[in-house]
Amino acid sequence: MEKKIGFIGCGNMGKAILGGLIASGQVPASNIWVYTPSADSVEALREQYGINAAQSAQDVAQITDIVFGAVKPGDMLKVMGDIASSLNKDSLVVSIAAGITLDQLATVLGHDRKLVRAMPNTPALVNAGMTSITPNVLVTPEDIADIVAIFRCFGHAEVISEAMIHPVVGVSGSAPAYVFMFIEAMADAAVLGGMPRDKAYKFAAQAVMGSAKMVLETGQHPGALKDMVCSPGGTTIEAVRVLEQKGLRSAVMEAMEKCMEKSRQMSK
Ligand SMILES: NC(=O)c1ccc[n+]([C@@H]2O[C@H](COP(=O)([O-])OP(=O)(O)OC[C@H]3O[C@@H](n4cnc5c(N)ncnc54)[C@H](OP(=O)(O)O)[C@@H]3O)[C@@H](O)[C@H]2O)c1
Repeated sequence: MEKKIGFIGCGNMGKAILGGLIASGQVPASNIWVYTPSADSVEALREQYGINAAQSAQDVAQITDIVFGAVKPGDMLKVMGDIASSLNKDSLVVSIAAGITLDQLATVLGHDRKLVRAMPNTPALVNAGMTSITPNVLVTPEDIADIVAIFRCFGHAEVISEAMIHPVVGVSGSAPAYVFMFIEAMADAAVLGGMPRDKAYKFAAQAVMGSAKMVLETGQHPGALKDMVCSPGGTTIEAVRVLEQKGLRSAVMEAMEKCMEKSRQMSK
């Protein structure tokens, strides 16, 4: 990609995007500019990745074609307002802040600005992220292809409408927390069965990762894949019966309904 890429803020999530982008070779480090308030943080990134250290957020806005806003949600609108007049006419601004809408971004950046709202999740830190991408109407198909390619550097990415953002928060942004709880619970049970704890986490996590891969790679219905494991009168169907009795699926659906409701409230 020929374009110059900028980062305003580059903590956990910014680094996941930056690291994935550089590792993919899609953008040379010499075409990337980063600004964070702490000069030490930028210097550490410059040493690690060879990117350019910008002196201010406005510099990033002036120099680059695609600007990632990767600051905390509470800081995003102020930071964007501060760079609005420094952006170039054709610049594309990508916000990854949870809960900040395209309309809020347009209010501070201008309604004539190309904007993308993206929602990655923490597995991005290990190159297995899932990101939703929501462009406004001014973003061209070529821009969208660039943004999708950037987020696919560290996982999967799909374009969705903004109305779908709350299910995305439930099924992707917040989902790692529920999966970690499931892994922890399975490992606790394995420890109860006598397995050393370090092995228990490995077996549990690998079972989750392998099962997820089967869903993604076989294209089979999760129910059919579950049926494949349940031999008649066997061990697995015993566990499945107890999970049904305890309402696993209903608990997950109710938890996610709460999560989506909170996401809707936070966007108001
Ligand atoms: N972590 C997740 O799971 C996740 C998932 C989806 C979306 N997000 C979104 O990603 C965004 C960043 O989250 P994070 O976890 O990466 O946060 P983080 O690790 O705290 O990083 C925040 C970054 O913003 C910089 N910063 C703070 N104030 C600034 C300012 N006024 N101007 C420019 N830069 C400033 C910080 O710089 P210093 O180090 O110099 O203070 C730091 O580099 C959030 O909006 C969040 O909603 C996160």
